[in-house]
Amino acid sequence: MKVLVIGPGGREHAIVRSLLEDPNVSEVHAAPGNAGIAKLVPTHAIDGNDPAAVAQLARKLAVDLVVVGPEAPLAAGVSDAVREAGIPVFGPSKAAAQLEASKAFAKEVMAEAGVPTAMARVATNAEEAADALDTFGAPHVVKDDGLAAGKGVVVTNDRAEALAHAQACFDAGGTVVIEEFLDGPEVSLFVLCDGRTTVPLSPAQDFKRIFDNDEGPNTGGMGAYTPLDWAPEGLVQEVIDRVAQPTVDEMARRGTPFVGVLYCGLALTSRGTRVIEFNVRFGDPETQAVLARLKTPLGSLMLAAAKGELDTAEELRWSKDSAVAVVVAAENYPDTPRTGDRITGLKKAESLEGVHVIHAGTTLDEEGRVVSAGGRVLAVVALGSDLVEARERAYDGVELVQLEGSQYRTDIAGKAARGEIRVSTNTGIIPAVKR
Ligand code: AMP
Ligand code: GLY
Repeated sequence: MKVLVIGPGGREHAIVRSLLEDPNVSEVHAAPGNAGIAKLVPTHAIDGNDPAAVAQLARKLAVDLVVVGPEAPLAAGVSDAVREAGIPVFGPSKAAAQLEASKAFAKEVMAEAGVPTAMARVATNAEEAADALDTFGAPHVVKDDGLAAGKGVVVTNDRAEALAHAQACFDAGGTVVIEEFLDGPEVSLFVLCDGRTTVPLSPAQDFKRIFDNDEGPNTGGMGAYTPLDWAPEGLVQEVIDRVAQPTVDEMARRGTPFVGVLYCGLALTSRGTRVIEFNVRFGDPETQAVLARLKTPLGSLMLAAAKGELDTAEELRWSKDSAVAVVVAAENYPDTPRTGDRITGLKKAESLEGVHVIHAGTTLDEEGRVVSAGGRVLAVVALGSDLVEARERAYDGVELVQLEGSQYRTDIAGKAARGEIRVSTNTGIIPAVKR
C-alpha cells in the first residue's frame, strides 16, 4: 500500500517512521514534512491545509491511503476532499473535526452523550465572563473557543488575568468557554475510530507547561511518556465505555461519523474521570512515545479505520518497554521562537541504545544542514526496560543535541519513574494497582 501523510511536525515524523515498519506499506510520501521526514521519504511542497491541493496530490501519487496529522487541515476539510476523490482517509471530516475546533460544540456533544466533563459556560462578553468566573470560583479556567494550538487556555488563581484572557478572545472576535477546575493527574488516551468501532491505544501523559514543575505558560506539549504504571487498572475500559464509544455513537447518530483518532484528554479527579478536552488527531508529543511501543503494523490499522473495518483488526501488540519523549524547544518558545539556528549532535544522540530523534520544527538550509524552523524543534525518544531507563537514555540524548538558546524540561516522566503519582481512590473506579 502507498500512503501520503499530511503535516509538518513531530507527530507526522513519528507516523511516517511507524508506517515504514509496516510490511504492507510499500511507499510513503509526505507533505509538507520537515527535515527529519525528508530523510526518510519523498516530500511535496504543497499547502497541507488546502483540501483541493491535498486531494490532487493524493490522486497524482495514486496512494491507497491519506493520513492527516494536524487539526488545521482537518478543520479545513482536507479529509472531505480526499474522500470525495475516492481515496480512503484516516482523519475526520470537517463536521466531525468540530469536536476539537469548537470547545462549545464538544461540550454539547458530551452533554448529549452523557460523557463526564467539567461544568462549563460559554461567554460572549465581559459581563458573562465575570459571572461565570464567580460561579465556578478559583482556580479559573478560561478557554478560547477556537483552535489555538494548545495555547488558548489560561488556568489561574488571578481573576483579573482570567478576565483579561477572556477579553483578548472577545477582542479577536471570539467567544470563550469558562469551566470548573479539574484536579488530579492528566492522561491522554488515543482511540482509533472507524465511525462505529473504537480501539484504544496505550495511555500516555503529556507535559503541557513550558517549565519544570508545571510552571509557566501552556505549550503544545514539552514531553511525554507511556505506559502509565500508576493508572487505575480499569481506566482504559472505563474511558471506552463512558467517553469514546458514546461520543462515536453520538457523532454517527448526527450523521457525521468520526473516523481517525479521538484524543481523549482526561483528568483523574477526586470525583471521577473527566474529559478535559477532545482532539481529533494524535497528540504531539505523546504520539512519539506511544508509536515507539506499538508493534501492530500501523498502516494496516489506519486503513482499516479509514474503510470502516476496525472490527476486523487484530488485537494490538505492544512492546514491554517504556517510552519517554523529551522535546527540545527553541529559545523564547511558546512566545515568538527564535529560528534559523544550526542543530548538531543528532547522529550522536541516535547512536545511543534505544534512542531516536523525531524532528518537528526543522528544515534544511542551502548547504543541506539541519536548522531550527519552529517552536518545538525536535523530540528525543527513548525506549528502556522501565521508565527510569527510558528517561535516562532520553536525557543522555538531549544532552548531545546542540541548538543555541534551546530549552527543555528536566522533569519529563520524573514523578512517574519515582512512583510519586497518586490517583485519588474516590474515582469511582478501581484504585491504582501496580502492574
Ligand atoms: P485544553 O486546550 O482544553 O487541552 O487545555 C490545555 C490544558 O489546560 C490542559 O491540558 C490542562 O492542563 C489545562 N486545563 C484545561 N481545562 C482544565 C480544567 N477544567 N481544569 C484544570 N486544568 C485544565
Ligand atoms: N500534546 C497535546 C496535544 O497534542 O494537543
